[in-house]
Amino acid sequence: MNPFTYEYPVHVHFDAGSLEKALVSELPKYGKHVLLAYGGGSIKRTGLYDKLKSLLAVAGKEVYDFGGIMSNPTYAKVQEGAKLAREHKVDFILAVGGGSVIDCCKVVSVQAKTDKDIWALEYEEKGKPEAGIPFGAIVTASGTGAEMNNGAVITYEERGQKSPLWGSFADFAILDVETMLTLPKKQVISGAFDTLSHAMETYFGSPRTPNLSDEMGEAVMRSVIRNLRRVVKDEKDVEARSELAWASAMAENGILKLGKVTDFQAHMIEHQLGAFTNCNHGAGLAVIHPALYRHLAKAAPQQFARLATEVFGVDAAGRSEAELALALPEALAAFIKEIGMPTTLAELGITDDAILRKTADTCILTPGCAKKFTRDEVYAILQECK
Ligand code: NZQ
Ligand code: ZN
Repeated sequence: MNPFTYEYPVHVHFDAGSLEKALVSELPKYGKHVLLAYGGGSIKRTGLYDKLKSLLAVAGKEVYDFGGIMSNPTYAKVQEGAKLAREHKVDFILAVGGGSVIDCCKVVSVQAKTDKDIWALEYEEKGKPEAGIPFGAIVTASGTGAEMNNGAVITYEERGQKSPLWGSFADFAILDVETMLTLPKKQVISGAFDTLSHAMETYFGSPRTPNLSDEMGEAVMRSVIRNLRRVVKDEKDVEARSELAWASAMAENGILKLGKVTDFQAHMIEHQLGAFTNCNHGAGLAVIHPALYRHLAKAAPQQFARLATEVFGVDAAGRSEAELALALPEALAAFIKEIGMPTTLAELGITDDAILRKTADTCILTPGCAKKFTRDEVYAILQECK
């Protein structure tokens, strides 16, 4: 294990049906002016918006709406939110949604507190934001674990980049699975696959020898696979959805990453694919992972073989470590097919080679990956996803 320091700032409320109780306990801690942030309208259709408005009114809050946060949130939307927050002297941001709304709010929180352009601050000056407006997250779609960390993924359309930005940690996160039950089945599965991807991309980082963080990661992955099978049968299975919501949080609250340098190469490729095509995050990952892992397995055979046997149930009898390592991408591909996720870029409507070339040429190449890919190899991997 590499050395680390550990501190965790998010106050987590995890309980089905607990939303009202949790929110009422948190609201008095924050000021009067509240930015209520949400996505494209699901919270209005489900009745959650009216419920929150009334809880905020009873708590004596002055509420300003910041709606229409799109999936794969843009930098322009961040600036819109920051402007609103400054204009209304907002004391507190309530982010209600999935990863897109929560990520957008993490960066709104810090952008509203500085005149500097956050993108320039982080990418050009290599600085980090120093202050942020407090914010709380009500998770309506689990999978990204965005409520548990201070990294956001934002699309800067004019630059053709979907990239990580540091923002604020949520002061609190409410994981009430009852607010998630209206999520369409396809998105439930896509979100859960994203969690599996986070755990795998953490696992395949370094050190490459067995360690406690990875053993905990194996437990999280087994749980995701088991519960994904349950939600494929019934997406309203509350127990399975609760397990998936907590697995989502566990994969991104930093615990599995302690003492590790993570990989996240599949994510970096998918993010750029998302920048050029706006594809669904979990679906993009499902297409990329098996092809990427066929290229990676030989570079980290011990880890690949272990994941194959310990998590995907591949029978080790009579097989060498190298053979077991190569069996992992195939077991993963079979699982993706089993849960009905897309397996080709064509299924995502992506057929243009120029987009694949741009994706390969602009994605971040991660230092924690077992193999340093060339841009041509990333392009070859994307070709194999067609
Ligand atoms: O926008 P609305 O109308 O609310 O609809 C959303 C959206 O269309 C809908 N939805 C959410 N909760 C619902 C619901 N529909 C019905 N009932 C509910 N309870 O679901 C759709 C998808 O939501 P979105 O937030 O876009 O999805 P997800 O949670 O997968 O977030 C994706 C974003 O998170 C980033 C991704 O790159 C992507 O931009 N990620 C953030 C991470 C982080 N900060 O740690 C890690 C991830 O790797 C990921 O990169
Ligand atoms: Zn992800």
